[in-house]
Amino acid sequence: HGGTVVSTTGAQPLDILVEGETIVALLHPGSTALGADLRTTADTVVDATGKYVIPGGVDGHTHMQMPFGGTEASDTFETGTRAAAWGGTTTIVDFAVQKPGERVQDTLELWHRKAAGQCAIDYGFHQIVGEVNDESLKGMAELVSEGVTSFKLFMAYPGVFYSDDGRILRAMQTAADLGALLMMHAENGIAIDVLVAQSVARGDTAPYFHGTSRPWQLEEEATHRAIMLAELTGAPLYVVHVSARQALEQIAVARGRGQNVFAETCPQYLYLSLEEQLGAPGFEGAKWVCSTPLRARAEGHQDALWRYLRTGDVTTVSTDHCPFCMKDQKEMGRGDFSKIPNGIGGVEHRMDLMFQGVAKGLISLERWVQVCCTAPARMFGMYPRKGVIAPGADADIVVYDPKGHTSIGYGKTHHMNMDHSAWEGFEIDGHVDTVLSRGRIVVDGGSYHGSAGHGRFVKRELSQNLL
Ligand code: URP
Ligand code: ZN
Ligand code: ZN
Ligand code: ZN
Repeated sequence: HGGTVVSTTGAQPLDILVEGETIVALLHPGSTALGADLRTTADTVVDATGKYVIPGGVDGHTHMQMPFGGTEASDTFETGTRAAAWGGTTTIVDFAVQKPGERVQDTLELWHRKAAGQCAIDYGFHQIVGEVNDESLKGMAELVSEGVTSFKLFMAYPGVFYSDDGRILRAMQTAADLGALLMMHAENGIAIDVLVAQSVARGDTAPYFHGTSRPWQLEEEATHRAIMLAELTGAPLYVVHVSARQALEQIAVARGRGQNVFAETCPQYLYLSLEEQLGAPGFEGAKWVCSTPLRARAEGHQDALWRYLRTGDVTTVSTDHCPFCMKDQKEMGRGDFSKIPNGIGGVEHRMDLMFQGVAKGLISLERWVQVCCTAPARMFGMYPRKGVIAPGADADIVVYDPKGHTSIGYGKTHHMNMDHSAWEGFEIDGHVDTVLSRGRIVVDGGSYHGSAGHGRFVKRELSQNLL
């Protein structure tokens, strides 16, 4: 009651009636349209006076307990979804990771077993196709019927997840037949591996050189190649974790032609830079080793990302939450950056970090809701159950207080299973007050009321965001 409900098209004072797990009505404050003022008839009233009321955040890109880089991401489905709830995210889409020799159907079943009964909030899965072959391509159709409607391929990481152009072409043909979304990690991994080996051989082994050996040219080139293969096959293409201005320009041109190409970016690319990584003392820069890498602010990538967020050519903001501790994990790469597990933890901070764009006047309130909630729900086939405050939708609701000021601090504002924060010291205006997941209050005024197992698997439709 009493809040300003924000959607992709505007903000207005409205009360929301929730019954069980579902939103049943939006009413003007004080309305007696349902017989009496809701404040006198409801079992529970959440006072949202002076605050924004937004759809629960949808983070379309997370890696809970992902086996990667010789270790496993440090958040489990339990700890990671709890941290997400703290930060106002009520749905994640995580990645099932196919190992070579494994059937994608078996991978998915394994990931179901990892997540079932553990999650505090609802979750879906994308499928990483680690090995494109006849069996995997056949399996993709089965996965679509089971609600896994998006498939990630890698142009990076030769010898691990890497697919060559022929395999990409075949997977795209299958995705096009199914109407499924092809997600691409667009970096030229073959060329990158040469630059990495040369850098290490020269003695340039500090974390910063992770970034310099993955230059923007190799993101632009791979993005362009993926776009052309998608254009040829008709597959809808979603380019994950875009960080280079030039890659975005490729995507904007393709979209201008009417092609179904979408860009995702992450808060780390909007706020952090290679210059800061260079300035970090000792091995500290390892906390920002991720791929695509942080890019040089001086090259104008961040400005371009914010610009394309405004114009709509960046469709979604996700976290690519892939946390590793310094101890025993990131530290494996002391003396050789190529052994640092790639990834940043941030599932907890996305709604806050993106609200800073609103607070600073870089994006509108409506755009904040769009890129963090509604667009990912539509992109991944969960709309209108997720991503919107409307009758019939799941009651995933966040009361966001624009007042107050905190700075992110490990041990202070941190719930992720990590031994550091990649966002240490970041100044944040506003905060999450109350979070509802399917009608249940899971976070309220700084205390946690959620539980493992409340979160359910979301069987997704095909993308609802195609042009
Ligand atoms: O560095 C990253 N992005 N780690 C997670 C795996 C991926 O490529 O998304
Ligand atoms: Zn990736
Ligand atoms: Zn990722
Ligand atoms: Zn407050």
